[in-house]
Amino acid sequence: MPNPILTPESVLCESACNSWTQPDPQGSRVTELEKGKVLYLPQLAFVLSPQELALLDVSRVDPKRKNISYNPESGRLTGIADEADRPAIEGLLARHYQSCKMLIAALLPEYQQHLHSPVNTLRLHPVTAWRKSSSWRKDDSRLHVDAFPSRPMHGERILRIFTNINPQGGSREWRIGEDFPQLARRFYPRLGGYSPLTSWLQHVVGITKRRRTRYDALMLQMHDKMKSDAQYQQQGLQLTFQFPPGSSWICFSDQTPHAAMAGQFMLEQTWQLPVLGMKHPEHSPLRVLESLAGRALL
Ligand SMILES: [Fe+2]
Repeated sequence: MPNPILTPESVLCESACNSWTQPDPQGSRVTELEKGKVLYLPQLAFVLSPQELALLDVSRVDPKRKNISYNPESGRLTGIADEADRPAIEGLLARHYQSCKMLIAALLPEYQQHLHSPVNTLRLHPVTAWRKSSSWRKDDSRLHVDAFPSRPMHGERILRIFTNINPQGGSREWRIGEDFPQLARRFYPRLGGYSPLTSWLQHVVGITKRRRTRYDALMLQMHDKMKSDAQYQQQGLQLTFQFPPGSSWICFSDQTPHAAMAGQFMLEQTWQLPVLGMKHPEHSPLRVLESLAGRALL
């Protein structure tokens, strides 16, 4: 049976923005972004120098790691295979971070004072390389919303900026799913309980960086139920979309169901955003799940 199709207009919001420093010529898109749409910037390229282009090789990543990650606040760079690459890769990721910061100031200025915990990644592997070696839970080619087992978010949002930097012309292919309220109504009845004692223990023994709240337990269960449900994966509402090289896109990845199907070479910037830093907190997964649960979840 073919996948039920969503329209591009229902999941994407396209912008003519072509600069990392200029506001959107069509005005603010913050409301559509907060409703869970992918803000698609087909003309926003991140241009690499010849020296940076030479870094685009899978051999630069530590074979034990999926990606190269950079924390611009601590300067911590992880995932490089060869120490000799450190200055060049750190330089690229620091430059990318500065561009993303300017983009937020231009496109989403209301978030500037609230975003925290920046991390960016250089993704050199083809998406398919990781699919083969992953368990279903780590398989990001299955539709999911982001929720991390070791990093409880306590309701905070995960804002991500992606840029396809493939020099050979390959698009990044995503499947994008239905809006979060619909998704939550679909999965909420199947989500299980929460044990404060287990959450406390998991934190004490170091499984989680901090205590998992009811919200974190629900989000993690929803992530797993989505990925393990073959019928939802095949027949759930979705749209397949190609992000060509030289394009960027922004979404709240804890809200927008997504699956990475194909592509290689990408830069990605993540921030956390407190719910109270949103223009419309009622669209947050926390508030949507709280309205279904009929209680506070933190
Ligand atoms: Fe994801």
